[in-house]
Amino acid sequence: MRAIEKFLSLDRYNEALFARIALASTEMGNLNIARDLLARIDQREPLTDNAYNAFRCAKALVLLGERARARAYIDQAKKNAGDNENLRLEIATLDYDIDEYWEMRYNTSQGERTPVRVEDQSDEAYRQRTELDCRFLEMVFDKLFGKAIFALVADCGCGSGRLTPFLATKSEALHSYDASPTAIEFARKNNPTLPGSTFNAANLSKVALLPNSYDLVFDFTAIQHVSDPVLWGKVFENYVQSLKSQAHLFLVESCGDDIDRSEGHMNSASPETYIRMAKSLGCTLIYSEARTGSDDGTVCMVFLKN
Ligand SMILES: C[S@@+](CC[C@H](N)C(=O)[O-])C[C@H]1O[C@@H](n2cnc3c(N)ncnc32)[C@H](O)[C@@H]1O
Repeated sequence: MRAIEKFLSLDRYNEALFARIALASTEMGNLNIARDLLARIDQREPLTDNAYNAFRCAKALVLLGERARARAYIDQAKKNAGDNENLRLEIATLDYDIDEYWEMRYNTSQGERTPVRVEDQSDEAYRQRTELDCRFLEMVFDKLFGKAIFALVADCGCGSGRLTPFLATKSEALHSYDASPTAIEFARKNNPTLPGSTFNAANLSKVALLPNSYDLVFDFTAIQHVSDPVLWGKVFENYVQSLKSQAHLFLVESCGDDIDRSEGHMNSASPETYIRMAKSLGCTLIYSEARTGSDDGTVCMVFLKN
């Protein structure tokens, strides 16, 4: 740290280095160094035209809670990112808009990010993760519902339709929803022959599900991505209003600590906040368990609508 401070005291301007150190310092909690460097970069006219430098400054400012000041860097980074998909996605995480972010994420040619393409079904990591998730779900469904088949199920945030075959074995009819039209296209292609299934492009913070209609509302790591707490609440309400009385809400979400909002595309709600919200909407927690194979605080929470 001394060496950095000594270097910074010299009157030498090095934008790339300053941007890197500003971000690293913010992440390590050395906020004064970060603020000093960002102030020096801010003074330059015109603002950097290097997409990486702009991204690092923007991220540091977002982490410092200075969203408004980050705006200029985000715009600059977007302008200069060209067709660099990885960087564009990173920038979109800072400037999180659900529809735009997921559309971009599913449209990326980087198959390993979200391996959703029909021809990528052979992807080993994707296959293994899906197998593990289905085994976990089978265990929970068995415990809670035995061999029950639900008349009508909603899969909210279905993504590529990875879990559609599993849910189809548990339902007579299945309605799958996702904010990204591209994801819905994949989900449809990945599940071509499922009678009673519909796939619908809908952002569930804006589009109301059918009221009092579902026997089970299922969401596997979708609402966790509604980072805005107000919109998160709207999606939650939407789920509950669409359930019949005595029907179940089934959530599997990566939970936070209610404080840290440093990941732009993640909500920070803790399990307690999920439970409190469900309770305020007339639902009781009947089951909770850590998701098998996850070390990221992903919890399965099942609620009963009173
Ligand atoms: C991590 S993916 C999970 C996909 C799928 N459930 C699975 O397990 O493979 C999260 C999904 O939630 C969707 N999503 C996020 N917010 C949403 C919203 N407000 N309305 C509908 N879908 C949403 C995203 O588009 C994305 O496909």
